[in-house]
Formats: sequence, C-alpha cells, structure tokens
Amino acid sequence: MVALALLPGLAAVSTERGKAVYLGKEPLRGRIRGQDDLLPGEAVRCVNCHNPASKDRLSGKPSPRIDGPWLLGTRQRHGGPPSSYNERSFCKLLRSGTDPVYVLVAREMPIYEVDDEQCASLWKFLTTPPPPERLPERQGAAHEPH
Ligand code: HEC
Repeated sequence: MVALALLPGLAAVSTERGKAVYLGKEPLRGRIRGQDDLLPGEAVRCVNCHNPASKDRLSGKPSPRIDGPWLLGTRQRHGGPPSSYNERSFCKLLRSGTDPVYVLVAREMPIYEVDDEQCASLWKFLTTPPPPERLPERQGAAHEPH
C-alpha cells in the first residue's frame, strides 16, 4: 500500500517527497469538507491555491502563503486566539479543516486523505528554509528588488 504511494527513489519522509505532494506530482485525494465526492486531482494540488503568483481558481477566498514563517509564527488565524502550527496540528488541519485552536477554516481549503508520511514530508518541505527558493513558482512574485 505504502509502496504504491511512493515515487521511485523518494524516501518515505523527505522534503523532496513533500515537494512532490505540494506540486501534485504525488497525487492526494481531497474533497470539500462535508461532501462525499472527491475533487478532481488537478484541483486539489496545494500549489494551485497557495502559490502567491496565482489566484485561487475555485473561489475568491485568498489563500495564505504556507511557508515556515507563516505556519510557525504565532498569529491570529480565522478569528481565533493567536496560534502556531506544528506537524501534528498541520496534519489535523489537512484531514479535518480545523486550525491549531480548533477553528474551522473556510471550505475553500479542501480536506485530504493524507497518510502520516505524506503529511510529515509536506510539513518538512514547507517549513524547511529557505522556502522561496524551494518553491520555484514563487520566484519573481513580490520578491523583485526595489
Ligand atoms: C482550492 C484551493 C486550495 C487548495 C487546493 C489548498 N488550499 Fe490550503 N487553504 C486554502 C484557503 C482559501 C485557505 C484559507 C482558509 C481560511 O482562511 O479560512 C487555506 C488554508 C490553509 C492552511 C491554514 C493556514 C492557517 O493559517 O491556518 C494550511 C496549513 C493549508 N491551507 C495548507 C494546504 C496544503 C498543504 C494543501 C495541499 C495539500 C492545500 N492547502 C491546498 C485554499 C486551498
């Protein structure tokens, strides 16, 4: 089962695997919270919505930049008290749609069937600096020198 999900040559938990999941090269099953039908694979790639250079294509709801400073920083999210993510609360969010202080995020953010290794890899990829270089799509977006 696990072997099927692995791309050849990728360690079970690694930033490379996390990148593959983020870009949708290793597909995830995702759906809108509260709905039974799976969304099309292309629609649930993280990069679609969380790449600052592209607008969320399913809705007008802005998607945060999910890099280390955003996830690890203590900040007010979704009207709740200030909070920060760790791997555990990040995986919970992906599976259930609730943030670290159990506030439900907007339904534009899909919920996912993600296994522990995929989730750990995503977490590692997103929080390992330097995120801008690791996410090629971000280059040129709001990083132009003045
Ligand atoms: C269809 C668009 C879409 C896709 C695909 C998507 N997201 Fe999101 N995501 C959102 C939106 C919109 C929000 C903001 C929800 C809110 O503020 O209530 C969000 C919120 C989040 C948050 C919460 C940030 C916070 O501060 O609480 C995390 C973490 C996150 N997404 C990670 C991911 C990951 C990882 C993937 C891929 C597995 C992904 N998202 C795919 C739209 C998307």
